[in-house]
Amino acid sequence: MIREGLTFDDVLLVPQHSTIKSRSEVDISATLCGLKFKHPVIPANMKTITGLEMGFEICKSGGLAIIHRFMPIEEQLFIANHLIDTFGDRGVCISLGGQNEDLPAFHKFLEAGVRNFCIDVAHGDSAQCIQTLKNMRALNEQVFIIAGNVATGEGARRLWEAGASAVKVGVGPGSLCTTRIETGNGVPQLTALMDVAQVQKQLMELERTKATTYKRQFPIIADGGIKSAGDLVKALCFADMVMVGNLFAGCVETPGEIMNIDGRSFKHYVGSSTHKTNHVEGVAAIVPAKGKFGDILAKLLEGLRSGCSYQGAHNLVDLRDNPEFIRITNAGLKESHPHDVILK
Ligand code: XMP
Repeated sequence: MIREGLTFDDVLLVPQHSTIKSRSEVDISATLCGLKFKHPVIPANMKTITGLEMGFEICKSGGLAIIHRFMPIEEQLFIANHLIDTFGDRGVCISLGGQNEDLPAFHKFLEAGVRNFCIDVAHGDSAQCIQTLKNMRALNEQVFIIAGNVATGEGARRLWEAGASAVKVGVGPGSLCTTRIETGNGVPQLTALMDVAQVQKQLMELERTKATTYKRQFPIIADGGIKSAGDLVKALCFADMVMVGNLFAGCVETPGEIMNIDGRSFKHYVGSSTHKTNHVEGVAAIVPAKGKFGDILAKLLEGLRSGCSYQGAHNLVDLRDNPEFIRITNAGLKESHPHDVILK
């Protein structure tokens, strides 16, 4: 039997009775294993998104800054030191590859005071990535390690069992990804998140029955395919935080210069796999220059607050409590967008 896979545009959240008087009442803070953030939006750890300047803005917003790995280790260290000196270590995370060659870098970052890491691999549910994760865990039990990406519940379980603090979910949903076209592999993002959330539930239930007072948590980060605040709300029905690339591509603070083409301003937005020399599963693109990160984030978070209030959710934990989705048709999707008007 072939299962059906759904993504954000296939569904809508059914509005629920709400006692929320104003959107500002909604608490959108997010917690990952005791690390608390003011909002759940993580700009993507991509070369054209999160360098020093974006890292600074993200930390300033109270979010989690995951510095990309497509630069020399010295540069990553420089950025980490700068951010840690300014903001402390809680919101600063460094990306690493998933091979044993990445272990010396891990060690260096540990010595520099970095406490949060992100193992950033296209196919996180691979023996090599899992072994690297285990080796990192063996070096340090305490640090926070995000591992991914996976698209299945069992893949997520393997990463959690190998010592991941949180797993990142998404194989092929990203706006620049061609993984699904080039390899035929992937899971539509909403279904991937639902499958991982089901395993998360099982693991939490198991944890609850243990006699220990410390209860391990199993956070999920949704990664890729977010086109709007609406998608963000849908993703947060299953995930604790959400990684967003495209919506921030073209921000003033992203790495790279603004280009002028026919009187309009653009910036580069480039798929991470294009930095490799072997099989490439992404594209390089340009996007319109967009203004400041803080303004775009604020708009996104307003949408998130509104989405929570339609759900009667006072916070993001409420939002994950049994959301009711409805499957929509192409006609429903058409009806959802502005229609029968001429946009100004
Ligand atoms: P959005 O949709 O927000 O997605 O632009 C950002 C996420 O896309 C992933 N990514 C890639 N996936 N090939 C891929 O298959 C690539 O070259 C590539 N580059 C980025 C990544 O998970 C990012 O956070």
